[in-house]
Amino acid sequence: MNMSDEELTELITKVNEIFYDKLFDDPWLSQIFVDVDQDIITSQQTDFIVGALGGPQKYCGRSPKDAHPHIFIQEDMWDVREAYMVEALKEANAPEWISEKWLKIDNAFKAAILKGSIDECSGRYKSEEIINIPNPNSFKKAA
Ligand code: HEM
Repeated sequence: MNMSDEELTELITKVNEIFYDKLFDDPWLSQIFVDVDQDIITSQQTDFIVGALGGPQKYCGRSPKDAHPHIFIQEDMWDVREAYMVEALKEANAPEWISEKWLKIDNAFKAAILKGSIDECSGRYKSEEIINIPNPNSFKKAA
């Protein structure tokens, strides 16, 4: 399907706006983003994905591998994020090929972003604190 760069950027922006509204509303994920500006991350992520999907290459920030060394991210957190992404793609009426490609791109970075243990986390600069927010749902599992 043909889409102009403007149409692609508009759609990706819409998906990311819906997506980050959900993340910033989530009782767990919102805690990971307390020090992050929602508008800035929405536009960074839009530039990144537009480029990765074949549109204009505007993104010049860190690679996903280098953007998260300080965050303790495991499979359960990944799954929550992915579920919101699937919802956002649907709610923005993204065509199937975009959704498929986008989820594939995300998953290509999964192994580089997930940590097996807290010891695998490190600050991006010397004094940066590690972000480790336990899954609030684990209380339910333990009961
Ligand atoms: C559960 C999974 C993820 C979580 C919790 C997460 C969380 C975050 C947070 C909190 C930031 C802001 C860091 C800061 O500026 O202080 C960030 C930045 C970023 N993330 Fe993620 N992320 C996840 C997965 C992904 C994936 C799958 C991708 C792309 C494939 C991605 C791409 C990026 C990019 C491009 C940035 C901006 C990098 C920069 O310039 O600093 N993230 N992420």
